[in-house]
Amino acid sequence: MQVETRNSVRFLLNDKLVELSDLPATQTLLDFLRIERRLRGTKEGCAEGDCGACTVLVGRLTDGQLTYESVNACIRFVGSLDACHIVTVEALAGTDGTLHPVQKAMVDTHASQCGFCTPGFVMSLYGLWMHNPNPAVRDIEKALQGNLCRCTGYAAIIRAAESVSARGNANNDPLVAERARVIEQLQTLKDGKRVEVGVGKERLILPANVDDFATFMEANPGATIVAGSTDVGLWVTKFMREIGPVVFTSHLDELRLISMDDEGLKLGAGVSYTDAYPVITRIFPDLTELWNRIGGEQVRNMGTIGGNVANGSPIGDTPPALIGLGASLLLRKGQNRRSVLIEKFFIEYGKQDRLPGEFVEAIHIPYLKQGELFAVYKISKRLDEDISSVCGAFKVTLDSHGTVEAAVIAFGGMAGTPKRAAAVEQALIGSPWHDETIEQAMAAFAMDFTPLTDWRASADYRLLTARNLLRRFYLETTGEENIRLNRYTAAVG
Ligand SMILES: Cc1cc2nc3c(=O)[nH]c(=O)nc-3n(C[C@H](O)[C@H](O)[C@H](O)COP(=O)(O)OP(=O)(O)OC[C@H]3O[C@@H](n4cnc5c(N)ncnc54)[C@H](O)[C@@H]3O)c2cc1C
Ligand code: FES
Ligand code: FES
Repeated sequence: MQVETRNSVRFLLNDKLVELSDLPATQTLLDFLRIERRLRGTKEGCAEGDCGACTVLVGRLTDGQLTYESVNACIRFVGSLDACHIVTVEALAGTDGTLHPVQKAMVDTHASQCGFCTPGFVMSLYGLWMHNPNPAVRDIEKALQGNLCRCTGYAAIIRAAESVSARGNANNDPLVAERARVIEQLQTLKDGKRVEVGVGKERLILPANVDDFATFMEANPGATIVAGSTDVGLWVTKFMREIGPVVFTSHLDELRLISMDDEGLKLGAGVSYTDAYPVITRIFPDLTELWNRIGGEQVRNMGTIGGNVANGSPIGDTPPALIGLGASLLLRKGQNRRSVLIEKFFIEYGKQDRLPGEFVEAIHIPYLKQGELFAVYKISKRLDEDISSVCGAFKVTLDSHGTVEAAVIAFGGMAGTPKRAAAVEQALIGSPWHDETIEQAMAAFAMDFTPLTDWRASADYRLLTARNLLRRFYLETTGEENIRLNRYTAAVG
């Protein structure tokens, strides 16, 4: 298969067209903005996607639709932004200095103290306002999970968010008024060519399409795949790792497809948490809480489910849930495809069942069957934007007498990989779903797991938590009605 190649990355930066033919493979958008373009409104706080000081909006075209999302510029690589529209805080005020409604609201409600975090808050609130001009407090809190203010100005910032529409009409916003023109420009930039810039370790590639990606990976198995870069970004900014050559995939629409068949839900490996949210929470409402607590809004906009599984982390949030649901990966190498159950994909810490040059193309999640009880619990030190200490998924089927017919229990944070609790499952299967069975099964956790002590949690805490989560699952599924003690499930749509 022959594809045409272009040797430059092109995008819109505010109202300017940028074309770069000399670009380090892992230059971050933040460094590019601040150092190369002297756009210093975008701040650097943590350089690891946590604080939101570097928030900008990125607009991308899918099927002719232009969508703007907040992203962390500190962990987003410039090369991945081909054919996108980057909007920084400098673009908000009018040329005559008139403040944007979000900025006015921040000023009028005294929502800025030291001001370091303020540009990031402004950009996150701008992103929220464009999608939801009259947000409820819960929506605002969710949109700001990824923005930290050390001066604790949150109450005032929430008041600002509530009052933006009183200061301007979202339909009159420049990004709405200019939409048709921007779409036209991005359509021209999106020319369907493979993009290749640089050589050797500094080589970056944006394949023309998924077939081109497969061909490239087969020929270059040592290249680093970068999807949302919410993991890989930190390898560069925190661990100073050299990861080139780099192959970016976030522009590949084929990897962002979502479909359903009689068996279940199929998510392309490049589907972000944000794009998956409506369908995941509709088909698996028990995943709503988990989904709302993965990263902050910026991380959910960038991060992909494929990346969460492929990285092999023992503390990723989706693997326990996906194992619980019996999900499988569609792996592809060249033209060859194979399917692997996610629970079998994780071999040992740092080792997954992935051949050189192979990549994750999609994830297939079977529907829950009638009568299957299912829940996932994420336990972390902080409610919002924190990595799990322990994450447990439970799927139990009872027969008509209330005896456990089948059980799948999977945990993250308890071993070197996400792992099933086989002994606990065996202690449940064939026994009545009641207190004594649960007590016995709780003891079996020690046979399944010998967790580590680290700064997130001690081994004892992890074991006790896992046991208590089984009890919680039992209590939540045995009352007169199912009760879920979750913060977000009922409240956030
Ligand atoms: C501030 C912050 C908060 C976070 N919070 C959470 C959280 O609450 N829960 C959680 O689970 N994670 C969290 N993460 C981690 C991260 O967001 C997730 O693991 C995310 O799903 C990674 O997806 P990505 O697309 O960004 O992956 P990338 O960083 O692009 O890639 C991750 C790994 O997957 C590989 N990869 C990507 N796509 C493919 C593919 N198609 N085929 C083969 N390999 C592939 C890459 O080569 C790399 O090894 C957080 C990260 C940050 C920065
Ligand atoms: S600098 Fe903190 S999230 Fe980017
Ligand atoms: S105003 Fe000081 S960190 Fe937010």
